[in-house]
Amino acid sequence: MSRTLVHKWRTQEQSILVGTNTALKDNPQLNAREWQGTNPLRIVIDRTLRLPNHLHLFDGSVKTLIFNEKKDDNIALTMWVKTDFSNLWSGICDYLYSEQIQSVIVEGGTCILASSINQNLWDEARVFTGNSYFINGIKAPEFPYKPQDTSSVDGVELSLFYNMNI
Ligand SMILES: NC(=O)c1ccc[n+]([C@@H]2O[C@H](COP(=O)([O-])OP(=O)(O)OC[C@H]3O[C@@H](n4cnc5c(N)ncnc54)[C@H](OP(=O)(O)O)[C@@H]3O)[C@@H](O)[C@H]2O)c1
Repeated sequence: MSRTLVHKWRTQEQSILVGTNTALKDNPQLNAREWQGTNPLRIVIDRTLRLPNHLHLFDGSVKTLIFNEKKDDNIALTMWVKTDFSNLWSGICDYLYSEQIQSVIVEGGTCILASSINQNLWDEARVFTGNSYFINGIKAPEFPYKPQDTSSVDGVELSLFYNMNI
């Protein structure tokens, strides 16, 4: 159910972004296969082009941008965009603005979420909290805000946060 909801949300925004490690470890498709609607533009960060080309993100099924520091290129629906990584978010936002992309879902992982939170580059956050507690693993990013709303989605808590500081 939470997965279906996430796929629904994916149809409601123009683009969806993940960090390099998430692309590598989770091999996400980032499409909306469990909900009818338009797939968002997929965006992945790959500074040194270390991601292998067998990942779903490079399957050419959906328009995909790869922000990197090595090359500008494109093959069919896959486009490499060279960017200055000393100010990554500025490069991403400027490029998306020039392409009239006005919304981005950042779907992890921790590093990329933390950097967008630390730079106050978020309007809204949706956080699922499950019932299991993991001792090991990568922690969720620090997010010291109180939710404006909470609900239960099939026993999983969903908290909604709206950024009041923008
Ligand atoms: N529970 C969930 O909902 C959920 C969702 C998504 C992911 N995850 C998990 O999160 C884990 C990955 O998280 P992560 O924190 O290790 O990695 P991440 O945020 O997916 O990717 C971080 C990597 O992106 C690159 N990067 C380059 N410039 C960056 C910048 N300015 N800001 C941030 N990243 C930059 C770096 O790789 P380079 O060294 O190549 O530059 C960095 O190591 C995975 O285990 C995944 O399963 C969980």
